[in-house]
Amino acid sequence: MGIAPATKDDDLVTITGLTREFSSGGGFLRPRRTMRAVNDVSLDVPRGKVTGVVGESGCGKSTLARLVLRLLEATTGTVEFDGKDLAAQSQGEMRKLRRQMQMVFQDPYSAIDPRYTIRRALLEPFQVQGEAQTAAEAKATVDELISMVGLSPRMMESFPHQLSGGQKQRVGIARALALRPTFLVLDEPTASLDVSIQAQIIDLLESLKEELGLTYLFISHDLSLVRYFCDRVVVMYLGRVMEILPGAEARPRHHYAHALLDSNFEPDPARRKVVTMLGGEIPSPFATIPGCAFAARCPAASELCKRERPPLADLGNGHMIACHHPMD
Ligand SMILES: Nc1ncnc2c1ncn2[C@@H]1O[C@H](COP(=O)(O)OP(=O)(O)O)[C@@H](O)[C@H]1O
Ligand code: SF4
Ligand SMILES: [Mg+2]
Repeated sequence: MGIAPATKDDDLVTITGLTREFSSGGGFLRPRRTMRAVNDVSLDVPRGKVTGVVGESGCGKSTLARLVLRLLEATTGTVEFDGKDLAAQSQGEMRKLRRQMQMVFQDPYSAIDPRYTIRRALLEPFQVQGEAQTAAEAKATVDELISMVGLSPRMMESFPHQLSGGQKQRVGIARALALRPTFLVLDEPTASLDVSIQAQIIDLLESLKEELGLTYLFISHDLSLVRYFCDRVVVMYLGRVMEILPGAEARPRHHYAHALLDSNFEPDPARRKVVTMLGGEIPSPFATIPGCAFAARCPAASELCKRERPPLADLGNGHMIACHHPMD
């Protein structure tokens, strides 16, 4: 699954210096505090490939996803989609671009009225875009979408609560594909599914990508899954990029990426029991860390690590790492 380093023309999305701050407090006796959920992230998303973003819960993955689709405004930095700076687009232009970029959520039904049938849920994107369809067109559209994601047309009149988790996610994917996008951001699309169902959804995503020539930004807290599915992998920690693996076969050399691969380490805090390998607490997202963001938990941290932030440097072949003392 290795790929040659992409040229600029090969990139569908180019992210440069992207930062998003959130503030809290500011009331009586509560000082205003600011944190950077996404901190100076630069990243290219090559066309027709799967770019993975991985990291623990709270590291900024969903914020990055929303920034990339301009569902959230950046504090600083830019996102270019097909050469167009998203922040510079008018509302009308943005509306057109929205058709080309869609999101698949962990729980696709959180955004859908539970009283909607599958048919209605699949037709909603057209209504949102103000696109009128005749009854015959609407039927053809829904028939095609539903078969594309491997569901039976018999399910069309079902309601969300009558579907299994895997079936619901298939409907979520069908909805995202309704307007024929070129780019999908998949935010933990399999995180709430059983392992066997997860594999089926990944297979489906893989074949849809080939069939429709899609580009994916695939977000997960599971590095093993991301390494299996993605052409390149971006490892994030506390809003920053720690490492970029250029291919599935590239071995992680960052201490944090290693910790993520360790079977004792559970990156989902909801399910975390004991973290044996990593000592130390995740620093508060409001703390200003002068050095490496991972220093408090890293077994190899030196004085230099605590003092100076390691820049993201190229090891060759597009393998990037932000670490003063990379692993061999
Ligand atoms: N709308 C918001 N207001 C304030 N803080 C937010 C908001 N959205 C996200 N955050 C904070 O930003 C950080 C990153 O969150 P998020 O992007 O959801 O991470 P992830 O998807 O990796 O779990 C977290 O500390 C979270 O609390
Ligand atoms: S820079 Fe230092 S603290 Fe950070 S990961 Fe590398 S060795 Fe560990
Ligand atoms: Mg998230």
